[in-house]
Amino acid sequence: MKLPQGFDPDFDDAVWTLDWLDIPILQVPPGEYDGGYRVTRERASEAHVFGKVYRLDPPLDVRLLYDPAGTLWMSDTPQERAMMVHNARRSRGHILVGGAGLGLYPQYVAEAASFTIIERSPIVLKLVGPLLKQVMEARGVPLRFVIGDIAVYLEQAEPAGYDTIFLDTWPRLDAALLPQINRLRDAAVRHLAPGGRILLWGYRWMVRLFEEASATLLLMDPGEREEWLAAHVKESPLAAAMLAPVAEAFRNQVVPRWEIDAAVAECREWVLAAKV
Ligand SMILES: C[S@@+](CC[C@H](N)C(=O)[O-])C[C@H]1O[C@@H](n2cnc3c(N)ncnc32)[C@H](O)[C@@H]1O
Repeated sequence: MKLPQGFDPDFDDAVWTLDWLDIPILQVPPGEYDGGYRVTRERASEAHVFGKVYRLDPPLDVRLLYDPAGTLWMSDTPQERAMMVHNARRSRGHILVGGAGLGLYPQYVAEAASFTIIERSPIVLKLVGPLLKQVMEARGVPLRFVIGDIAVYLEQAEPAGYDTIFLDTWPRLDAALLPQINRLRDAAVRHLAPGGRILLWGYRWMVRLFEEASATLLLMDPGEREEWLAAHVKESPLAAAMLAPVAEAFRNQVVPRWEIDAAVAECREWVLAAKV
């Protein structure tokens, strides 16, 4: 399978680092915003990072953005910051960003020539627009905001030759979202300058989740797989739908432990290419 040039599926941004501590950032101000959105400030003395708990001493000032229903929508917790720093390190030049969020990533990029940020939510732009403008003006880095859907933008906008395209618009790290994300990845290719790079938040982590789930399924007796998948349909229909092709490809095939790596490699090939 041929992946787009400029995209490395093995780049892993889900690796713990404290490097973000050395890069000062502006955070969204706490308060009540239009339409019932709310930003709170918290002194976090613990951080949950890739399944581990770290103590924060001194406590860290984090911001939490809640939607009008009171559901936590976004935050700038240490895990988020670490992932953004890894992506920022691989970024340079003229940069296209899908999803402004709380504006962490652009602030961590040291080698930007310009930013074009496509954001679907006007409320998010109202929140982070002023602070990113302030930071980028001080750095002399041109910044352009576009309200819109990144999928539509990638399909329809005139290619502008970006050196880096960083996409982070999906709501969670879930392997079942990979076919949608792969579609965005492939749509981004025509917007890349020669030698440019596509970065996708949490991609390696999501592929790893899929590899682990595939291994669990394939190590079962073939007769048990259907029942296991049926149980998963109730818990997570999307995850079960992703694993159904794996079960189908290895139908009636026993996979011994010593062959599992090769079998999982096949599953990985499939998921890197899968698209909806
Ligand atoms: C997790 S946040 C991004 C965090 C950001 N990388 C940062 O550094 O803070 C995801 C953002 O994507 C936006 N978004 C979601 N779907 C989108 C879409 N289809 N097009 C553009 N923006 C979208 C959300 O409104 C949100 O602001």
